[in-house]
Amino acid sequence: MADGKTADVGLIGLGTMGAMLALNMAEKGFTVAVYNRTTSVTHEFMASAGDLAARLIACETIETLVSTLAPPRAVVLMVPAGKVVDDQIAALTPHLDDADLIVDAGNANFHDTNRRAAHARAGGIPFMGIGVSGGEEGARHGPAIMAGGTQDTFARMAPILNAIAAKYEGAPCAALMGPDGAGHFVKTVHNGIEYADMQIIAEAYGIMRDGLSYSAEACGEVFSKWNEGALKSYLIEISGKVATHLDPQSQKPMLDIIADRAGQKGTGRWTAIEAQHLGAPITVIEAAVAARNMSAQAQVRHAGESVFGRGSEPLAPGALSLGELEGALIAGKIVCYAQGFALIERASAEFGWALPTPTIAQVWREGCIIRSAMLNDMASALEAAPNTNLMFAPKFAAYLNAHIPALRKVAATAISASHPVPALSAAIGYFDTMRTARSTANMIQAQRDFFGAHGFERVDQPGKDHHGPWAFNG
Ligand code: 6PG
Repeated sequence: MADGKTADVGLIGLGTMGAMLALNMAEKGFTVAVYNRTTSVTHEFMASAGDLAARLIACETIETLVSTLAPPRAVVLMVPAGKVVDDQIAALTPHLDDADLIVDAGNANFHDTNRRAAHARAGGIPFMGIGVSGGEEGARHGPAIMAGGTQDTFARMAPILNAIAAKYEGAPCAALMGPDGAGHFVKTVHNGIEYADMQIIAEAYGIMRDGLSYSAEACGEVFSKWNEGALKSYLIEISGKVATHLDPQSQKPMLDIIADRAGQKGTGRWTAIEAQHLGAPITVIEAAVAARNMSAQAQVRHAGESVFGRGSEPLAPGALSLGELEGALIAGKIVCYAQGFALIERASAEFGWALPTPTIAQVWREGCIIRSAMLNDMASALEAAPNTNLMFAPKFAAYLNAHIPALRKVAATAISASHPVPALSAAIGYFDTMRTARSTANMIQAQRDFFGAHGFERVDQPGKDHHGPWAFNG
């Protein structure tokens, strides 16, 4: 089937993302050898590729795929994360040599990517892991690409990655984040922020739906209006769109027909787990992951409603304005991103990665799910003051000074009327904690010393091993 043609790159895995990525590469002028374990999927893909089929070479075996590639060969894997990636690397290895390159473009756990990169260094086939964001449309027309690898492996893939990536004012949204699993780590944090941003939007929707009795369509109009201001972003835009669609079957608003149990493939959870390992506080992201878990426990929620009665009460007229809700989301969003970037900086120090936070913000400006009008200013702020919490950058401190009162009022009003707002509350909790010079952890230290003689620092004397006058005397 390869027809004696030579391909620039190979791609294994023709699921939705792989198929779209292959078409994107072909459209940018690259000849792509494609392979899928189930051959009928390859045939269907070729049949649907239209004119681009001329730059696609369908391969029925891995051997054919490899023999079709011009050396040094590069093979992109777009297969489900986990064991399938290891299986594909094992299947490719006998046919490749150490001038070749395997690129995992799936949503891998970065620890797996670290392991695979270490294996490659120890004599395996050169390997790099790249995070690709933007869903189906992004993969087809321009995703954001977060690469992990060496300068050399990145340089080898850069012509393809830069060509297929989204562009922000002409600049490709693709960059090398660092070695080994650095690209997949940054993609994981991207997804953590994605979860948090989606959750605070869902909470604002809940206040409008249950507190203000807005129809789905009315909520959609509010989101669309907000998309013209500081909140301008892909997630706000699509929230406006999904809210105004009707279900073709019932003609009811689509949102009212969709069950209230959120799915998750695990990247948000990985972000939370890693943040705990690193001691990095990402409370809004953690609240968002927990909220998805709580959403999944529909039976418990139904039981809770029958024991305690329904919360989410209607708000009194004038209790909250749409402007305040918008302000709450602006402040909440800044806190989400600030936590994500702080986690990246923490990981950078811990793993010795020197992750380029301004470049990360630049890469996220287009193509990815969390693209937002704020990211350009975030890139400048992170450039101007590296290793400083994004909330303290002058531009974002000004936003917060303007909108924290709204976040505080929205969270307080929602809680008073029994609306669940775990992520918005986490955002105000984080903000208030991070602007409190004298925290209440002196009480924790005193308790620890009382029950375990763990010792504490004093504010007036050096040393870490002071004890209180409560020693246990046997
Ligand atoms: C992206 C997305 C994508 C992710 C989906 C589903 O950047 O394109 O993050 O990679 O897989 O959004 O994620 P969940 O199933 O975990 O919600």
